[in-house]
Amino acid sequence: MSGQKRLPPWHEKFRLRDGRELLIRPIRQEDAAPIRGAFSLLEPQEIRQRFLSPMNELSVDQAAALCTPDSRTAFALVAAEPMIPGEALVGAVARAHILDGGKQAEYTVLVSRFIAGQGVGRHLMRRLVKWARGRNVQQLQGDVLDDNQPMLQLVKSLGFRVLPGHQTPGMSRVVLDLDTAAGRLGEAEPAPTAPA
Ligand SMILES: CC(C)(COP(=O)(O)OP(=O)(O)OC[C@H]1O[C@@H](n2cnc3c(N)ncnc32)[C@H](O)[C@@H]1OP(=O)(O)O)[C@@H](O)C(=O)NCCC(=O)NCCS
Repeated sequence: MSGQKRLPPWHEKFRLRDGRELLIRPIRQEDAAPIRGAFSLLEPQEIRQRFLSPMNELSVDQAAALCTPDSRTAFALVAAEPMIPGEALVGAVARAHILDGGKQAEYTVLVSRFIAGQGVGRHLMRRLVKWARGRNVQQLQGDVLDDNQPMLQLVKSLGFRVLPGHQTPGMSRVVLDLDTAAGRLGEAEPAPTAPA
């Protein structure tokens, strides 16, 4: 792999069911340009499901903010080509940040349709759960559109509860209680397609 020595110190290989290999690693500042470039490949529905509203582009500032999380309160991972950050195409981004008060964290995730359905979303969510638990967060939560069955199925399978009565019609809040058995399910190691 070219440039392997310059890969981030923590990374793990992830083999897709179609045989392609990706790296799961913390997001880097250098990922901003590839992520902005990949934004134009997203379908309007993918953008709506992730950002909960239409967007035409990810601005330079938005990409820079996404790619420089404050390590005290936030964590962001990418699934990317096995190349150095900045050269690697980024196929998925997952992020969690601790909310005011420190007891809850909120996640977002987006897996490109070009690699969807191959276990990446589940793997990234488990890593976010692990990070949140390590930060003594009690609940990991997210907002999901009611018509987003893939995400609803995914989080339910990880032990999240779907809360009724969201203030925005057509949206549900999903919550994982990290100190319960269901919360521990969310961190359990994934199937063999995703070696640690
Ligand atoms: C939802 C999303 C993250 C799933 O990522 P993914 O990598 O395709 O998911 P995985 O392959 O890991 O699948 C995990 C589970 O999700 C559910 N799932 C995935 N695709 C599904 C589909 N098309 N229909 C129903 N359930 C689906 C299943 O429960 C699946 O488990 P299984 O493989 O054991 O059946 C991805 O589709 C996505 O990024 N969507 C757009 C953005 C978004 O909705 N973000 C969430 C709000 S922040």
